[in-house]
Amino acid sequence: MQTSPDAPKRNAAYAAAEHVKDGMIVGLGSGTTAAYTIIALGERKKHQNLQILGIPSSYQAFQLAVQNGIPITTLEEHPEIDVNIDGADQIDPNLNLIKGMGAALAREKIVASSARKNIFIADEKKKVKVLGENGQPVPIEILPFAIALVQNRIQALGGSPLLRETKGKLGPVISDNGCAIMDATFGNIKDPKLLDNQLKMIPGVVETGLFIGLTDIVYIGKASTVEKLERKRI
Ligand code: 5RP
Repeated sequence: MQTSPDAPKRNAAYAAAEHVKDGMIVGLGSGTTAAYTIIALGERKKHQNLQILGIPSSYQAFQLAVQNGIPITTLEEHPEIDVNIDGADQIDPNLNLIKGMGAALAREKIVASSARKNIFIADEKKKVKVLGENGQPVPIEILPFAIALVQNRIQALGGSPLLRETKGKLGPVISDNGCAIMDATFGNIKDPKLLDNQLKMIPGVVETGLFIGLTDIVYIGKASTVEKLERKRI
């Protein structure tokens, strides 16, 4: 177990990587925590000759996979993923999630929905009683043409939308899919599934960062231990 400032993320990521076995198709999540899983899998490939194929959920994950020697495949070639390992922005007691602060939510949800097993990894700060608490927005990926419509419809649902702006370049964040990202705060979200459905009904919404009923296992990394949370799929 690691005890550096990043130790919780790393400990969760390495625990999740243990689920990966020879011959598996592996969903590669995005973000700083998921990056440690890609590094862990690269180490196992190098030292244990682990034979896997990765399906990256973002350009970041793709680059990391290449740098760490993990061969890549596609959902066209392998539509069923054995295990997907990804990070999260908030995790509630039902193991529903908010994801997408790295703007990779649409591909992340497609990869997660293609996986037989989904493992999410995070540090303790991501565990909450109710999704949306502490002002956490729901990231929503939208077609740029629909920005004004989506803003109005989110307000009608009682939310406060904010178009995500880039750092290091003027203008909006453009996702790996050529879409804009709207961060919408709703306060504490009483019924995340209902909100997800309502948002998905807005024309121009490509995907939401509400991940409902997709989780099998969560590893919460701590300084020198890991907490495992499990949910049985219905
Ligand atoms: C990217 C994501 C990330 O998994 C999420 O934002 C967590 O990132 P990090 O591990 O860096 O805190 O959903 O779209």
